[in-house]
Amino acid sequence: MSNSIESLLKESRVFPPDEEFSAHAHIRSLEQYRALYEKSIHEPEAFWGEIASSLHWFAEPRRVLEEDPPRARWFVGGTTNISYNCLDRHLPTLRRNKAAILWEGEGGDTRVLTYQQLHRETCRFANVLRKLGVRAGDRVAIYMGMVPEIAVAMLACARIGAVHTVIFGGFAAEAVRDRVNDSKASLIVTCDGAVRRGQLVPLKAVVDKAIVDCPTVRHTVVFKRTGERVDMEPGRDHYWHEVIEAVGASAPPLPVDSEHPLFILYTSGTTGKPKGVVHTTGGYMVGTYVTSKYVFDLHENDTYFCTADVGWITGHSYIVYGPLSNGATVVMYEGAPNFPDPGRLWQICERWGVTIFYTAPTAIRAFMRWGEQWPMKADLSSLRLLGSVGEPINPEAWMWYQRVIGNARCPVVDTWWQTETGAIMISPLPGATPTKPGSATLPFFGIEAEVVRRDGSRCAPNEGGFLVIRRPWPSMMRTIYGDDERFQRQYFNEIANVYFTGDGARRDEDGYIWLMGRVDDVVNVSGHRLGTAEIESALVSHRAVAEAAVVGRPDEIKGQSLVCFVTLRPGNVASKALKTQLAEHVAQEIGRFARPDAIRFADALPKTRSGKIMRRLLKDIAAGGDTKGDVTTLEDLSVLATLRQSDDD
Ligand code: PRX
Repeated sequence: MSNSIESLLKESRVFPPDEEFSAHAHIRSLEQYRALYEKSIHEPEAFWGEIASSLHWFAEPRRVLEEDPPRARWFVGGTTNISYNCLDRHLPTLRRNKAAILWEGEGGDTRVLTYQQLHRETCRFANVLRKLGVRAGDRVAIYMGMVPEIAVAMLACARIGAVHTVIFGGFAAEAVRDRVNDSKASLIVTCDGAVRRGQLVPLKAVVDKAIVDCPTVRHTVVFKRTGERVDMEPGRDHYWHEVIEAVGASAPPLPVDSEHPLFILYTSGTTGKPKGVVHTTGGYMVGTYVTSKYVFDLHENDTYFCTADVGWITGHSYIVYGPLSNGATVVMYEGAPNFPDPGRLWQICERWGVTIFYTAPTAIRAFMRWGEQWPMKADLSSLRLLGSVGEPINPEAWMWYQRVIGNARCPVVDTWWQTETGAIMISPLPGATPTKPGSATLPFFGIEAEVVRRDGSRCAPNEGGFLVIRRPWPSMMRTIYGDDERFQRQYFNEIANVYFTGDGARRDEDGYIWLMGRVDDVVNVSGHRLGTAEIESALVSHRAVAEAAVVGRPDEIKGQSLVCFVTLRPGNVASKALKTQLAEHVAQEIGRFARPDAIRFADALPKTRSGKIMRRLLKDIAAGGDTKGDVTTLEDLSVLATLRQSDDD
């Protein structure tokens, strides 16, 4: 990494908050934000203690924060249960019969679950888990499509103190196997299949393939969604609808310690193996609760729609735990955004009267490409707030979102955060913060974000550098499952005494933060952070491949696309057919969303003398430009010339 990062973006438009919006918002002015922010930084215990007291604790915390850098423990001595806070807490109130989940299947079928119903389903499934031998602390893998039962399964785990690990339904058998084995899950909750673009996607069949090499798994529970035929092994595999009938509807929540693990979620890192990011209960609960409330300005009558998949952190924090702990009504959509036509999401907004809409820049760029006629066909007048997450949003996409979807009257909140941070860290507050298209603006309460140079010194205004966080926050990850050493090394050793985000950023003269993307070997494809090493391993697992290097290339729609440089084993011939085969192989190994966009064959890859592949050069070549910067460490210069000639279709 060089010392700082060059920043090229210049953008000067500013949008002050709408007066009418501010008048009804939780946080109504920049002054109010600043006063609360000051308090959150100077008196963190008082600030966070107060917020935590809006939630239910079986035993009150003795202390709000105990620091032992780089670690922190939050709400120490407190016991709670996040499923209680998302469900039971609302039952004595008018929310009892309020919709918790408004679900829409891809084919147009709908389901509504009130808080009372969601509570009942969760209790029953908690009893199923107990009956199948799951105990507090045990890991349960969840590999399902977007059906309400995915939320039920998560909440049921939380209810009994089991640790869920949701595996995105687009992952292939090998990826499922690796995650199940790393977490040593004893049970997998899945569906017979999922529905995507009118096609049936087999899920149970993938589990069957994975499970052969998963020695810790004793049971699966299969929710019937598509009705397709699946193999059920007696004694091991159980249908959800059958086992749920055999248990009672009462399941008292287990009070767990604030630092009891809530879930593991795998995310890509720089060194190959996916990292099991561990989040605990109390801090994560308080963080997702308060950010949902203030960033989305949630009110009792809102209808909130987040288009993410529950299999990623956005779905965990802002479909399930954050909104439900606030007693909000959540829209959950099962299928593809352009099925049966590109107007689908707007029809959903109209049908359910969505007021808050949260999506990703990659989706916004696709909406732009599909054309304004689609949102124009729907009545979007119920919308009052728009959100974005997942990667830097380019100002043009921001403006389009604000103008076409928000009809130039809805505030846009560009929210920066990560799987590791658990909750939103940098974002406008819609009634308080003037927005600038392309900037995530200012840090949330309690978050001391800074842009620094490699040596830890603070960057000057508009000087690009590394985004770091200076002090602990409640929803921060606690460790990497099974690899605490890597946790410390990766996040706290890069730059002394701070949390290293891995993102480049600059801060402008108003203190606004502008994100510039990852600084390491991770690519962001359609809002999914993918480790290039994982894709390389998949390629190398093909018999024809000797070596592979994968880099990201800027892509108008996807943010980045995947370009793979491949050297073949002797005896294999480079051909179009082999390219297709390799792309298919990666899709098989990792999932279709990671299918390479281009594969280039090369006789050799550019390497340093110590044998490290110089991805920096490959990135330049993939982007079609000249290679910049120092090449003196390159072992064999002629490699570059040959690579430039390799074609790309
Ligand atoms: O590079 C940043 C980008 O996504 C990364 C985190 O990816 P993941 O853990 O998969 O979580 C995605 C959803 C929270 C970050 O390191 N990123 C996320 N949000 C933004 C962003 N980049 C710029 N602006 C954002 N709003």
